[in-house]
Amino acid sequence: MKLFFGIENLAQIRSLDVKIVRGEEMADLPIIKNAWMATKDGLMEAFGGMDEFDELRFSDYERIDCKGCSILPTWVDSHTHLVFADWRADEFEYRIKGLSYEEIANRGGGILNSAIKLQNADEQELYKSASARLKQLIAMGTGAIEIKSGYGLTLDSELKMLRVIKRLKAEFPIPIKATFLGAHAVPITYNGDTDKYVSHIINEMIPAVASENLADYIDVFCEKGYFTVNQTVKVMEAGVKHGLKSKIHVNQFNAIGGIKACVDHNAISIDHLEVMNSEDFDALENSDTIPVALPSCSFFLGIPYTPAREIISRGLPLCLATDFNPGSAPSGSMNFVVSLACIKMNMTPSEAINAATINGAAALEISSEIGSITVGKRANFIITKEIKHLAEIPYHFGAPLIQDVYIDGEKFKA
Ligand code: NIG
Ligand code: FE
Repeated sequence: MKLFFGIENLAQIRSLDVKIVRGEEMADLPIIKNAWMATKDGLMEAFGGMDEFDELRFSDYERIDCKGCSILPTWVDSHTHLVFADWRADEFEYRIKGLSYEEIANRGGGILNSAIKLQNADEQELYKSASARLKQLIAMGTGAIEIKSGYGLTLDSELKMLRVIKRLKAEFPIPIKATFLGAHAVPITYNGDTDKYVSHIINEMIPAVASENLADYIDVFCEKGYFTVNQTVKVMEAGVKHGLKSKIHVNQFNAIGGIKACVDHNAISIDHLEVMNSEDFDALENSDTIPVALPSCSFFLGIPYTPAREIISRGLPLCLATDFNPGSAPSGSMNFVVSLACIKMNMTPSEAINAATINGAAALEISSEIGSITVGKRANFIITKEIKHLAEIPYHFGAPLIQDVYIDGEKFKA
């Protein structure tokens, strides 16, 4: 039982029925100034303003003087590729010298390069490296995460990745969701026969993943040169038959009609959206599919940013995530994502914080347990350094103003 008092801003206060914020609602970040908050049994128990604070009620609680620091819920990172065998810093140099992501992939780099390394990697080593990365991310404020497979590309190696994620779920205190991304790229052994690989995904991989209960969601890289809209639909349909809802990589480099297909198939989220046309926006209106922007990928690859203003002005929700991976976003910092969203996508700090907390939770279907300061939710929150205004978090880009991270009411030690 802990009592945090003297909190400059207690931010993102919501009632339990708020599961997501859309359109204009995103501009509002509810805050109590000069606040206190109590936690008990790993949950948020109560909070309020210091002026209505009843000392006696909490006399046996451990007291933590926040001394002008602010509290907000931990980030929810709803899109990562956290499990991989090695970085791809060599490709980074090729890109600096002028090769595009596509050209690097065509020369044997990219996802297929990561797949060869992962296929040869030992499961225990994969666990160790992923676990070290996850600790760093939690220390940077991430309190719930999604992790994809997709660097295995063979039945055995995809299962190996998913078992690593399963172990992370068991050993870490934060909510973790696993996504099966067998359709990330076509393995070299298929000689470009994408249909044949899709049949293998549908007939062998998905049933095996589902029978071992290794995934919560299914994903496809719906993109020119990877998987067509029709192939994406086939994988989504096969996923649904095995209880896997979809979260799809779509519109990263080209708009090929994938968004409408995802909406028609009740995808939970559509992720990337750097390139959008008017049919894509129309398809999203009146749907429950959540748009997810990954600005670190745009920053790193030098591609367009997801058009946040147009998405929000159409009354839609927007979610922010890192896309942490060795190829297109080698940073798992949600603090940087929130800064980029403000600086490059013209989102206000309040919109960006909403997109990185409550809307991230919605994109992982865990808004009832995480994503806001709410009585009864898990006590996963960030204590910032001394700041007057929450806008200072994205404003001081690259300098995470995080003092402590609490998970289930306990201070996280990396
Ligand atoms: O989300 N676009 C597809 N997948 C990843 C990149 C994977 C890689 O390059 O290793 C992404 O950007
Ligand atoms: Fe991704």
